[in-house]
Amino acid sequence: MVPLVTWFDEAATGLAGAGEVTLLSRDDVRRCLAGFDPVDVVRATLEDHDRGATVLPAEAYLRWENSHGAYTRSIGMPGAVRSHYGMKIINASVSNPAAGLERAGGLGLSFDPETARITTIMEAGLLSAVRTAAVSAAGIDAAGYAEARSLAVVGCGAQGRMHALLLARRLPGLRTVALYDRSPEVAAALAAALPGPEVTVHDSARAAVSAAEIAVFTTTADDGYAEPDWARPGALLVNVSLGDLTDAVFLEAAAVYVDDLDLVADNPRRPLGRLMAAGRISRPGGPARPIDATLGGLLTGRYQARGVAHPFVVLNPFGMGVLDVALYAAVAEQARRSGLGTAVHLG
Ligand SMILES: NC(=O)c1ccc[n+]([C@@H]2O[C@H](COP(=O)([O-])OP(=O)(O)OC[C@H]3O[C@@H](n4cnc5c(N)ncnc54)[C@H](O)[C@@H]3O)[C@@H](O)[C@H]2O)c1
Repeated sequence: MVPLVTWFDEAATGLAGAGEVTLLSRDDVRRCLAGFDPVDVVRATLEDHDRGATVLPAEAYLRWENSHGAYTRSIGMPGAVRSHYGMKIINASVSNPAAGLERAGGLGLSFDPETARITTIMEAGLLSAVRTAAVSAAGIDAAGYAEARSLAVVGCGAQGRMHALLLARRLPGLRTVALYDRSPEVAAALAAALPGPEVTVHDSARAAVSAAEIAVFTTTADDGYAEPDWARPGALLVNVSLGDLTDAVFLEAAAVYVDDLDLVADNPRRPLGRLMAAGRISRPGGPARPIDATLGGLLTGRYQARGVAHPFVVLNPFGMGVLDVALYAAVAEQARRSGLGTAVHLG
């Protein structure tokens, strides 16, 4: 029989072959993570970022409303640090938890630095939560709050859980954890999963925040509701979910730290970016109430932390894809050494 020849078949196109990628499941990623300290990787990458050894292009952001009218989005975040290149694709819909799905999920890609081919594809949801909690852990140290004895977590979903679990291990003096979630059963489930410190589930965000020297916000709130007088004197407010703090909190803080000034300034849909666009908050040294430092700048010593300062301090980590890319490189390397993952021939 004469073979069917098409204009796109192998012989006609003469293409050399699409190669192979390694696919890492969440379980593979988990095994790889046990082989190194993600906080060390994040800390080193924040320092690299401060020294100009990273490339952090603008994020590609696509949003839509799904059939439930829920906020739904995809973010593409490429990045490079030293000889590591890659990209995070993280998609989310706020209606996912009600359907029994994780709110956010996606893929992490590692690239070959010579050929630019994708070498490794990995589950990114776990790493995204690990990265975000690791930034908060590094930021808490850099801001001078490592001796805190009390922690609050407002919003006890994927990010809140990861923060509580990581910080319970890393803060040596931690004695109490205050939890609040608008779904009490979610807060209760986290309380049950937390070994060690004394855990209290509160019936309001204010009660949880005012009980703690470090309060982490990991909700999906769109509009600011946490006021300055909620904070315990000298507290550190870690604004992971970016929407919870009122403008007054930023304006009255003793110090405001961010991960990347451009990312914050370029996103006026978030409160701090909006305050910058309105000229009410400026970059370090600027004319309005200035942002005091970047996290990388604190870690390299380019800026001095104020330490525990009154009335309170705000840490606003916007989320840098290059930190995920650094973690993807570490995970991919660990997978290679341990022979983990599934090779997929692309043809
Ligand atoms: N800054 C960063 O680097 C970064 C990185 C990743 C995620 N995030 C943000 O972190 C947030 C949490 O993400 P997640 O994956 O944990 O989501 P999730 O849906 O798993 O958890 C959110 C939790 O917050 C609770 N919640 C929502 N609104 C609340 C409110 N007003 N008060 C109290 N509880 C409330 C929900 O019941 C839920 O349990 C999101 O806003 C996400 O965009 C930030």
